[in-house]
Amino acid sequence: MTLLDGKKVSNDIKDEIAEEVKKMKANGEKVPHLAAVIVGSDGASLTYVGSKVRACERVGFESTMVRLSNTTSEIELLDKIEELNNNDDIDGFIIQLPLPPQIDTQKVLMAVNPDKDVDGFHPMNFGKMALDMSTFIPATPFGILELLDRYNVTTKGKHTVVIGRSHIVGRPMSILMGRKGFPGNSTVTLTHSHTKNITQITSQADIIISALGVPNFLKAEMVKEDAVVIDVGITRVADESSPKGYVITGDVDFENVSKKASFITPVPGGVGPMTIAMLLKNTLLARERHRARK
Ligand code: GUN
Repeated sequence: MTLLDGKKVSNDIKDEIAEEVKKMKANGEKVPHLAAVIVGSDGASLTYVGSKVRACERVGFESTMVRLSNTTSEIELLDKIEELNNNDDIDGFIIQLPLPPQIDTQKVLMAVNPDKDVDGFHPMNFGKMALDMSTFIPATPFGILELLDRYNVTTKGKHTVVIGRSHIVGRPMSILMGRKGFPGNSTVTLTHSHTKNITQITSQADIIISALGVPNFLKAEMVKEDAVVIDVGITRVADESSPKGYVITGDVDFENVSKKASFITPVPGGVGPMTIAMLLKNTLLARERHRARK
């Protein structure tokens, strides 16, 4: 069994990006600038955005965190997005999800200038992704592709089973794994809450990508020998013995599934850190596009 070490790979990627930023500075060029908007004070969202801002500092990017209250109206958020769209200093920005219920998420994501949409959530960018055009690929799926690539995991002709059809992970992942190229060329099954006999499907999979958010959902008996297992779950499970009062738990029963898998991602330290590294990569790309427009 080989551990797909997202922590290590993401650090390698950050080092590579930091090198590029050094060159930009040496040439007197403006460094990439990422902004993150967070509405409300959800603990997990604040943690993620904090990690994104710290990652910017680590590679030498500029970053701006925009914090808005939980009672922010849709109009107020749309105004803020307009401001960020028009702010020439900012190359790319994200709206951290989920948003409070008074705000229509799809409307908000559609207001982001597609050239600054480093999350790749705008329908134009999602469409480009599905059509194999150059675009911003959502950071978590992009991170999974990068892990498969850097560990030379074969995907061509393999059966990939994706669990969960969220707009952020499952749906784009199912499209990307079936695309022409590497990683891709997989035969993809997208499973979800209405899927019947899921064990029958997962136990035929060469590659399983679980993005469900149900702790320890994927058991050893659902996985065939030598499968590749990617765990996207990051659920906070209450645990009084831990200093934070919770532990981050994946979708996969790691202890037992790892005994059968050929490659597996740990939680934490697998897909999570990759997501942040790929957001930085997208921000680098956004800066290039921004410069090309000038
Ligand atoms: N919430 C959970 N994952 C993500 C992500 O990748 N981007 C944003 N903006 N919000 C999220």
